[in-house]
Amino acid sequence: MSRQQPDPSVPRASRQRFVQEFSQCLFDFVIQLLPTTEELAVKEDVRKLLERLIRTIEPDSRLLSFGSTANGFSLRNSDMDLCCLIDSDERLAASDLVTMLGDLLERETKFHVKPLPHARIPIVKLSLDPSPGLPLGIACDIGFENRLALENTRLLYCYAMIDPTRVRTMVLFLKVWCKRRKINSPYKGTLSSYGYVLLVIYFLVHVKNPPVLPNLQQMPPLRPISPGDTHIGSHNTWFFDDIDLLRQRWASANTDSVGQLLIDFFKYFARDFSYNTGVASIRAGFIKKDSKGWQNDLDPVRYKDARERNRLCIEDPFESDFNVARCVTRDGLYTIRGEFMRASRILSTRPERAIVAIAQLCEEREDV
Ligand code: CTP
Ligand code: MG
Repeated sequence: MSRQQPDPSVPRASRQRFVQEFSQCLFDFVIQLLPTTEELAVKEDVRKLLERLIRTIEPDSRLLSFGSTANGFSLRNSDMDLCCLIDSDERLAASDLVTMLGDLLERETKFHVKPLPHARIPIVKLSLDPSPGLPLGIACDIGFENRLALENTRLLYCYAMIDPTRVRTMVLFLKVWCKRRKINSPYKGTLSSYGYVLLVIYFLVHVKNPPVLPNLQQMPPLRPISPGDTHIGSHNTWFFDDIDLLRQRWASANTDSVGQLLIDFFKYFARDFSYNTGVASIRAGFIKKDSKGWQNDLDPVRYKDARERNRLCIEDPFESDFNVARCVTRDGLYTIRGEFMRASRILSTRPERAIVAIAQLCEEREDV
């Protein structure tokens, strides 16, 4: 090769160097955002205190964590999602429990209390102001009998545990990214954290080839099990949850670094995922909206609701008739896709230093 000719291996080498440095920076970035052991201990104390108080109303109750505090995807100062299970046939209606618990917590604790007995899922919202031991305060929601949420939390936890380094780093980074870019507010037409986590798992199970994760819901059980053990109501909640065994017997053939996976994730959702016709399902892979009756191109007069609810479709792993992204509006989806494109563009231009790429990706977006 003459000395004037560009060496074709240089761009590749520089790309590999960038991806490697980007992966390292992602780990370093995410680690400093994990909750401290003190924070986790305070939260556990709060859970125990609340459980003791609830037992004065319902003696046979247990108060369990779900959501990020329990699924391995918690960031510093995440809110606490708690679910009260009552092991007795004669229990009060959730809305009455919310009202009674609200009154009790108002009397007995220093929490700010907001009971929402008439919400679709009745909850009590609690918050504590910042104090020296808890510099950012605490926010907590208590609901009742939400067994599906406890199970989907366990499913996400199992996925996190199969390959914690890659899965947790990707998810935690994405959670920070979507909060900083202001696309993580279902109430304002964008997507819940739960929705983003499902997109990551979907990508690692069904888009990457070879897959980074197995499909836990499609793996056969090791011994026969009865429908009573696999269903909550009409919903099949079975999944392979023996993660120790799985780690012994299953290894992914995919060796991509976390940096590479994140680059490919953004690229996929920026330009390859078919938003108009497709549903992302971690149970079944890519499925068609019309196979579920989730089209959004129906007659705008007769099907206004379906059009609005099904712009972006993410199937809940257990409630397969529930679109987790039903709150995402037309404008919300436009913004989310714009953000996937922006992230993909930043990563394809490969700034000189990976740390600069991370700073650009997570730059706080002005509130609109
Ligand atoms: N959940 C659900 N269905 C939804 C939204 C949420 O079942 N449509 C349940 C899931 O069990 C989820 C939990 O509620 O894990 C909490 O959801 P969310 O707050 O979106 O996720 P977190 O992981 O708790 O994220 P954050 O740290 O941002 O609170
Ligand atoms: Mg939460």
